[in-house]
Amino acid sequence: MQVTIIGTGYVGLTTGICLAYVGHNVTCLDTDPAKIAMLEAGKCPIYEPHLEELLAEARPRLRFTTSYEQAVPAAQVVFVAVGTPPGEGGNPDLKYVRSAAEGIAKHHTGGFTVVVNKSTVPLGSGNWVHSILLDAYTRTDGKFAVASNPEFLREGTALHDSLYPDRVVVGGDDPQALETLYTLYRPILDQTFEAPVYLPRPEDFGAVPLVSTDLASAELIKYAANAFLALKISYINEIGTLAEKAGADIRQVSKGIGLDARIGTRFLQAGIGWGGSCFGKDTAALVATASEYGLDMPIVKAAREVNRMQRERIVERLLAELKILKGRTIGLLGLAFKPNTDDLREAPAIDIARKLIERGCRVKVHDPVAMERYAKEHPDLATVACATPEEVANGADALVLVTEWQEYRELDWPSVATSMRNALLVDGRNALDKARLTRAGFQYRSLPG
Ligand SMILES: NC(=O)c1ccc[n+]([C@@H]2O[C@H](COP(=O)([O-])OP(=O)(O)OC[C@H]3O[C@@H](n4cnc5c(N)ncnc54)[C@H](O)[C@@H]3O)[C@@H](O)[C@H]2O)c1
Repeated sequence: MQVTIIGTGYVGLTTGICLAYVGHNVTCLDTDPAKIAMLEAGKCPIYEPHLEELLAEARPRLRFTTSYEQAVPAAQVVFVAVGTPPGEGGNPDLKYVRSAAEGIAKHHTGGFTVVVNKSTVPLGSGNWVHSILLDAYTRTDGKFAVASNPEFLREGTALHDSLYPDRVVVGGDDPQALETLYTLYRPILDQTFEAPVYLPRPEDFGAVPLVSTDLASAELIKYAANAFLALKISYINEIGTLAEKAGADIRQVSKGIGLDARIGTRFLQAGIGWGGSCFGKDTAALVATASEYGLDMPIVKAAREVNRMQRERIVERLLAELKILKGRTIGLLGLAFKPNTDDLREAPAIDIARKLIERGCRVKVHDPVAMERYAKEHPDLATVACATPEEVANGADALVLVTEWQEYRELDWPSVATSMRNALLVDGRNALDKARLTRAGFQYRSLPG
């Protein structure tokens, strides 16, 4: 099929490359000429494991452009995968979605096109996009149907999640549109494509369930899923705070409850809490949407508040251990909001660095892949950028593990401890082995402790 993807960010680029890999002809459109130039040169503007390799494999079926005029006319399906950053009053800012919809309508040259909202957009956005398309359309020989196809990929494992998803959700009121999307996703639903060697199909992986719904249900599924995951993390963090006071070990508690199949082990690691571009924005949007219906969302609101408090707790922990923060050198290991991505949106490290600087600390930072993005996006933060984790530790009064990158787990911890002025380590992710760190000479603290 002929597919156009508008927006080549974490979602759009992954979707475009995967759809091309499984056999479709895909045009990726972005308004940022620098991104398009990089992609044309075979380079990815974002860090995502194996994305560049898959781009190379799918390259014959991929085109990159900044022009709606080139991207829209031939497309049977156009995905809108632009950003929906936080806007006013908790609602996302939909200006990029609006401009994408207008671009589609203005450059449509007739025939039937399915316009798919892949961006996370509030309830009712499908109808709203349809009305923008109709308003901006000046011809009479074309027809649009709007569908919703929420995205569930996780940065860091985006290709795995796109090629081997738990489910595909499509929502819409037009049967032809839903049929088109079914045909589009068929290679993934039936798993008929050859798995890339570096991304083998999981053992016993069968057909992927397709959940076909009306528009509003698909839109709500996305928000409800993200809010549930967010509150699972906040729940374990709340239990963690109690565990700390009562002398229980939260790692054992997580394991003990997570092995109950009704609960599950994932999203039950206590620590600094969630970050990233989705959970904060999407929970805020859910609360804002509910309020339009005169509803409160006390559970979702509480999950947000617990998450906010976790970031304060890191600073409190450092204060409790060091007594005075002013003039201390604190090293942050990890900047990205999670491992295997360079995404810094809503990353806890940024918040923590800012809070420590406000308290008069000197803050040294390192991340295996996000340093370049960090320098570009946060030139205002007066931190010391370090090329290695060892450099962060050298002469520091404390280290905080903010992002649990594999390379931090494998550090030569005894030599790291020796290089510090004060060998205190606060494990913000409960990811390191306390006994090993203690043997290495560290005063090991975690969150919760
Ligand atoms: N990142 C994730 O993990 C994730 C997961 C699920 C859903 N989502 C949702 O998917 C959407 C996209 O997220 P993302 O992280 O990929 O965003 P992103 O910021 O990485 O990418 C958005 C891209 O859209 C481009 N763009 C903006 N306006 C445009 C326009 N009018 N025409 C063409 N291109 C335009 C931007 O230049 C940018 O490259 C959001 O709604 C987000 O909530 C994201």
